[in-house]
Amino acid sequence: MALFKDMLKADETLFRDEIALDYDFLPKLLPYREKEQFHIANCIKPLFQKRNGKNIFIHGAPGIGKTAATRHVLRDLENETDEITSFYINCWKKNTPHKIILEMCSIIGYRFVQNKTTEELFDAVKKELNKSSAVFVFDEVDKLDDINFLYSVLEDIFRKTIIIITNYKSWLANLDPRIKSRLTAEIIEFKPYNPEEAKGILKKRLSYAFQSGVWDDTAFETVAEKAGKLGDVRAGLYLLRESAIAAEEESSRKITSEHVEKAIDKFDQFYINNSDDLEQETLKILELIKDNNNQKIGNLFEIYKKNGGSLAYSSFKRKIKKLEEGKFISVDKTEGGDEGNTTIIKIKEKPKKLTDF
Ligand SMILES: Nc1ncnc2c1ncn2[C@@H]1O[C@H](COP(=O)(O)OP(=O)(O)OP(=O)(O)O)[C@@H](O)[C@H]1O
Ligand SMILES: [Mg+2]
Repeated sequence: MALFKDMLKADETLFRDEIALDYDFLPKLLPYREKEQFHIANCIKPLFQKRNGKNIFIHGAPGIGKTAATRHVLRDLENETDEITSFYINCWKKNTPHKIILEMCSIIGYRFVQNKTTEELFDAVKKELNKSSAVFVFDEVDKLDDINFLYSVLEDIFRKTIIIITNYKSWLANLDPRIKSRLTAEIIEFKPYNPEEAKGILKKRLSYAFQSGVWDDTAFETVAEKAGKLGDVRAGLYLLRESAIAAEEESSRKITSEHVEKAIDKFDQFYINNSDDLEQETLKILELIKDNNNQKIGNLFEIYKKNGGSLAYSSFKRKIKKLEEGKFISVDKTEGGDEGNTTIIKIKEKPKKLTDF
């Protein structure tokens, strides 16, 4: 019997280049986002003529290429000129002005950072940047814990484009008016990929990441379908990797539907704990709750319907439950009282504090 003939050997792998599945892997081409990249580039263009650039506010659901498209433009910019300094800052990782300014110092090669205050460091960066021009990207800006910093960049750096990226359209509406009026940004909405686009992107990634022929066609279709339904490429990349790992654990030479099922199970469990990976409709409802805090669930459902929501009440309630389990919202139930039982939905997010300048 050749029991072990078709098994993956200990030193063999299904992956060709696993890095191609990393979320921050930047592929050479970024199909379906040409228009958005062009728009971003156009806002930066005036900097080439030593004029001030336009600012940009980018919003859209998770995993649909906002970061990738912006970084792509920056990469092109860096290849094109040394005259414009570009800063890509992830405000989740660098969530305070001091961390951001240290990052900027490191990017421009300013090393005298010891024992200096944020203001002193900003002065040094400012001096350097005002010799030419700069592009600032503040990605995941809603995670920034002190927005005043943005005010300084707006006021003190003369020739610049500021690009702000977030999942939440409402972030801009809630912005302090003093910053908002100075920002006057072009708004670029990233729309989710349709299932065909999501599939196309994942198919391309397959060829970088895996040995040829290891993916069973139906298994891949299932991954593409799930990612397509969510409109979320990151979810697809996760499933590709996890399915392959499940296959390798069984020393299988093929990645089959069974392995994909395992990956999907794992994905569904983890999904709810991470707001960045919330599924579209749930995210929409979360946004709605943010804009209509402290509402009765019935009122909220009416607002949801008025805004074009398509779910039935029972499914809507299930999404509310999911959000509660994920600790995004709290659900207060009171029994009895004048109006019988009431359920009030509250957002859990801490309100942003805007101290005076
Ligand atoms: N058009 C595309 N072509 C190739 N890869 C893509 C494309 N769009 C997105 N991706 C890939 O999908 C993953 C998620 O994209 P990205 O990180 O840009 O999402 P995002 O919109 O910034 O999401 P989030 O709001 O959660 O930060 C990345 O690995 C990215 O390279
Ligand atoms: Mg992003």
